Amino acid sequence: MHTPIDSNALATLFSEARTHSAWLDKAVPDALLEQLYEHVRLGPTAVNSCPGRFVFVRSAEGKQKLAPCLSKGNLDKTLAAPVTVIIAYDEDFPETLPELFPFADARSWYAGQPALITENALRNSSLQAGYLILAARAFGLDCGPMSGFDGKALDEAFFAGTSWKSNPADQPRLRRRQQAARPPATPALRPRLRPRLMENRPCNWLNAKPPVNSALQ
Ligand SMILES: Cc1cc2nc3c(=O)[nH]c(=O)nc-3n(C[C@H](O)[C@H](O)[C@H](O)COP(=O)(O)O)c2cc1C
Repeated sequence: MHTPIDSNALATLFSEARTHSAWLDKAVPDALLEQLYEHVRLGPTAVNSCPGRFVFVRSAEGKQKLAPCLSKGNLDKTLAAPVTVIIAYDEDFPETLPELFPFADARSWYAGQPALITENALRNSSLQAGYLILAARAFGLDCGPMSGFDGKALDEAFFAGTSWKSNPADQPRLRRRQQAARPPATPALRPRLRPRLMENRPCNWLNAKPPVNSALQ
């Protein structure tokens, strides 16, 4: 049991956190990215499989490789971001299970089951992408997740000949947040999209009576 985080921290992580498309002209240091991953890696995954793989694209060369994989609408803002993280998963993750989950022969559960491997890898690397977004926010970075890219082209450019595949869900772009605890909204931000799904639509509350017309707010 831990002390609940305060309202400022909740605002940083959720209520005031937004999806961004414009970036400050500030570098994101390697040490910060390392610290970020130190926390992301602790997020839970099924059988501690940790199938997510993270490629931090920052150099001009990396961006050049990335550019042809991006949809038109995502091109300029992604290239302008100080860091883009490609979220991938490793189809060979069962090989790591003897080390990561030594309590059972978990590797054998996946043997000869490519569909199960892909399902587990996709689900858990997507979770890890979510952990990364929240960790980035916690470390003072803003994110702009996106799935507008050509996964096949990305895999060919970055992962040819390996067991890694891009997760089609999202590739967060990171930027350094302004120093103010609550950053001013950038001009590129539209008002937050509403409705968000509420209560009974995304959550099946056990024993709860669905409130009429309260699903959207
Ligand atoms: C998996 C995923 C894929 C997304 N794909 C794109 C995208 O390709 N391009 C884009 O501009 N925004 C993309 N977004 C951003 C969403 O539209 C945005 O997070 C949503 O409208 C909520 O905005 P808010 O965080 O400012 O409230 C994506 C977000 C997620 C989580």
